[in-house]
Amino acid sequence: YERTFIAVKPDGVQRGLVGNIIARFEAKGYKLVALKMVWPTKEMASKHYADLSSKPFFNGLTDFFSSGPIVAMVWEGDNAILGGRKMLGTTNPRDSEPGSIRGDLCVITGRNIIHGSDGPDSAEHEINMWFKPSEVNDHALAEAAWVYED
Ligand code: GTP
Ligand code: MG
Repeated sequence: YERTFIAVKPDGVQRGLVGNIIARFEAKGYKLVALKMVWPTKEMASKHYADLSSKPFFNGLTDFFSSGPIVAMVWEGDNAILGGRKMLGTTNPRDSEPGSIRGDLCVITGRNIIHGSDGPDSAEHEINMWFKPSEVNDHALAEAAWVYED
């Protein structure tokens, strides 16, 4: 199955939303295969958001992303990359539907509490950036037989 990189940003950690967010991914049926709390350096933040380096908000974004610890995770499941993005909602929480994480839990783009990989290439790149291979687990879950058909 697909793996996607999900991170609760510093605002989500400060606001005590880590448990709420993890509960949603667990309840969906995705499998948590890696998790750590890490305080990103400005350099890590800049690398993580390198594709946005030409944007006017890049410096503020990377200052914010390195302003406190994040909770970095890898979630695995059928269609986990696109499905995870749908769970997040749109970049601007104004447009996020109620029921989505951003639609339910935050108000503005610059404090949208959670990151999710936007495609297979970024997922692989981000997982490798934040986790060593040995930190990503390959365990079976008994409940998989109740989430999937085969
Ligand atoms: P991530 O999951 O964090 O990558 O968000 P995204 O994929 O929904 O959006 P994108 O990758 O385009 O932008 C990354 C982050 O930069 C967003 O989550 C916002 O926090 C921030 N950002 C994006 N666009 C704007 C903007 O126009 N203004 C400001 N201030 N921040 C922005
Ligand atoms: Mg993005």
